[in-house]
Order: sequence, then C-alpha cells, then structure tokens
Amino acid sequence: MDIKEIKQASIKFWDDYFKQYPTFKIQKSDITIDTVLDECLKFLGDQCENVIDIGCGEGLCLMEIALIGDKVKSCLGVDAAETAVSKASEIATTSEIKNIKFVQGDENYLKSLPDSSFDGIFCSNFLDVVPASISEVVIKEMLRIIKPKGFILLKFNFVLNPELIEKLHMVEIEKNTYTMNGVVRAMNRSTEEWVSLFIDCDVVRIGEFARAPGLPNDRVILLQKK
Ligand SMILES: C[S@@+](CC[C@H](N)C(=O)[O-])C[C@H]1O[C@@H](n2cnc3c(N)ncnc32)[C@H](O)[C@@H]1O
Repeated sequence: MDIKEIKQASIKFWDDYFKQYPTFKIQKSDITIDTVLDECLKFLGDQCENVIDIGCGEGLCLMEIALIGDKVKSCLGVDAAETAVSKASEIATTSEIKNIKFVQGDENYLKSLPDSSFDGIFCSNFLDVVPASISEVVIKEMLRIIKPKGFILLKFNFVLNPELIEKLHMVEIEKNTYTMNGVVRAMNRSTEEWVSLFIDCDVVRIGEFARAPGLPNDRVILLQKK
C-alpha cells in the first residue's frame, strides 16, 4: 500500500466533494443547540480564545464556534482540499464573520505552528478518514500546539460493524483502516482507543448523537490537556 497515493486519492475525493457545495449566509440566529456536539462547540467558544479546526471541510462547525462563543477571538480552519478552503472562506465572507481564517494545508502544515499556540482544537471526522501514519502525525502536533489546560474536541463517525463493512464493500488496507473506491472512509477505532492516544489529557465529556436518521450514533470526545 502506497500511503502517498492513498492520501492524494482522499484529498482529490474531498476536493471534488466540496466543488459541489453551496454558498450561503449563516448567522448567529440560525444556530440552535440540538446535540452534544453543539453543546461542546459552544463550550469551546466560551472557554477558548484561539481555536483551530483541523480538517475543517467547509468550516461550518468553526463558524458556529465563532458566532456563538462568548470568549473566542480568533479561529483558524485548515484543510488539504483547495475547494474546501475556498468554500469555507466564501461562506465566512458572505456571512460577515470577521474573526475567522481558512488556509490550505495538510498534516505537515501543523508543524509550522508554534508550541502551545491554541487553547482550543476542534477535529471532526478527520483522524478517522486518514491512514494511521497521518493521524499519528496530527495527534502528535495537536498535543504540541495545545496550551496546558486547553481543550481538544474530537468528533468521530460511528463504529463500523462487520455487516456494515461487507454491505458497503469496504476494503481493509491496513489494520482497522477501510477504503471505499480507494478512499479511506474509516479508521475503525473504539472511543476508548482514540482517548488512549491523547496522552496527558483528561476526559471532560464523552457523548453520542444521531447525525442522520437510521445511522448509528456519531461520537464526541472533549479532552483537556493537563
Ligand atoms: C470527512 S471530511 C470532514 C470535514 C469536516 N471536519 C466535517 O466534520 O464535516 C474530511 C476532511 O479532511 C480533509 N483531509 C483529508 N486528508 C487530509 C490531510 N492529509 N490533511 C488535511 N486535511 C485532509 C478533507 O479534505 C476533508 O475536508
């Protein structure tokens, strides 16, 4: 398995996906706190001044933090897909959200950020759609750039079971890592396994919510660096 090829296939997939994404205006009054994820996004915005969203996609969750957080001053979204970043920037500009910026970058971009430079990190459905060698780099960098007592909010898709893996024709390319049409769609770790990778962090909250009807629950983990 060539990790470079797998990585490029994944970025191309998301680049094509975000090409189709609509532009619209989002404002504070549109936001409702419906799930544990919304509650934790609000928590991050209320507790942190500088928040980074790693693998931000179209950036809507980061915009939610920027719009409803009482304390947040600056937000940075990072994504390797050029169309994700341009779409996120377009939505933020249309919505007149001033304290937010989006940049194109992969896991290596994080290495350019200073130690302890963020008191909030958000990472949703990114660590579980890349090969383990990439998520290892990202987790290491997250633990370096987060300030002591800073918060890390993680969102993972539901855990796949063998029936679903077969039904979706997923292919296991390395231990617990599954592709669909050559694109990594699941690094199938349990919540406890993910938590154990974040050394020197305390669990603040673990929760679940239904992303869409009929699907198993997605998982939310809120950690605090010691
Ligand atoms: C499943 S989407 C999640 C997007 C968003 N965080 C969300 O929860 O809706 C995965 C995102 O990771 C980005 N991505 C994939 N590989 C990446 C890499 N090596 N470095 C940075 N971003 C990457 C993709 O471009 C895509 O936007």
